[in-house]
Amino acid sequence: MSDRILVIGSSGQIGTELVQELRTIYGVENVVASDIKEPHNEQNGPFEVLDILNKEQLENIIKKYQVTDVYLLAALLSATAEKNPEFAWNLNMNSLFNVLNLAKEGVIKKIFWPSSIAVFGPSTPSINTPQYTIMEPSTVYGISKQAGERWCEYYFNQYGVDVRSIRYPGLIGYKSKPGGGTTDYAVDIFHKAIEEESFECFLSENTTLPMMYMPDAIKATVQIMQAPKENIKIRSSYNLAGISFSPKEIAEEIKSHIPNFSISYQPDYRQKIANSWPQSIDDSSAKNDWHWNPTYSLEKMTADMILNLNLSLKKKVI
Ligand code: NAD
Ligand code: SER
Repeated sequence: MSDRILVIGSSGQIGTELVQELRTIYGVENVVASDIKEPHNEQNGPFEVLDILNKEQLENIIKKYQVTDVYLLAALLSATAEKNPEFAWNLNMNSLFNVLNLAKEGVIKKIFWPSSIAVFGPSTPSINTPQYTIMEPSTVYGISKQAGERWCEYYFNQYGVDVRSIRYPGLIGYKSKPGGGTTDYAVDIFHKAIEEESFECFLSENTTLPMMYMPDAIKATVQIMQAPKENIKIRSSYNLAGISFSPKEIAEEIKSHIPNFSISYQPDYRQKIANSWPQSIDDSSAKNDWHWNPTYSLEKMTADMILNLNLSLKKKVI
């Protein structure tokens, strides 16, 4: 049987773009989008309202569409999770168990579940962070991702569940707004630069973090899911790197397109989260095992973001 895909959390920052790409590859009818909330964009294929914590609802949708592969994107991200740690733990862990158990029971064949650079903590070497290193996350989000990685590996080793995972860096795209992370500033900065030519940043000017342009993140997601099973040698989660920059560096790059752009800094509670994360990532395992190779530099990403945000602004005016 060909791939029938269910994307859970499809109305979010990644899901909005991933569903489009998966539909291009696998066909519109073979990719079911689902979320606890209605999508903000027009759907060109099947969509179901689904609360991932409701296992019966999940099973019914999987049965209805004969789903083989699940992409589980529903989660609370780092900043939002700190405001409601118990709820974040419940959502981030039990969503994963619901999907892992369906694979264990043989109901679905393959799972994509994203981890994050948040699995690392203040004691992790922060430059070129290795795949295997000290991991003592200090946020509830990071703790849930680290535990999730352990469970993914456990389900693979004990039950042969084909679960694949990437530790995404902070993601930047123009098609959707981010959903409550510490790296969200790197998306907001573009919107403010274009609309108001000024931006107040909630991180300090030299806070360097690992980041990635959304087309690269989508490419990596498709690549790891299409790779032959034997190439996926890491069943916890793969380090993945794109670009690393600070608020000051991205502001400088934006200024080369919008000379009047100005930035000010007002660090808040998210500064502490950012300080606990790496500055850059060693992703040689992903490169070796499934031929990962990023396309976008800071310069190329900035030019593309500004071009596309300007185009959508013009469309709105017309
Ligand atoms: P997001 O917050 O933008 O989207 C998450 C979606 O999940 C939302 O549309 C939300 O409505 C939905 N959702 C929440 N609770 C749900 C429930 N009970 N049932 C069904 N849907 C529910 O998040 P995102 O940025 O698209 O991230 C997707 C995944 O990637 C998450 O696991 C996140 O931890 C991971 N990740 C994201 C980034 C990033 O920079 N965006 C970086 C690292 C990892
Ligand atoms: N971008 C995410 C966040 O800031 C990292 O997982 O929460």
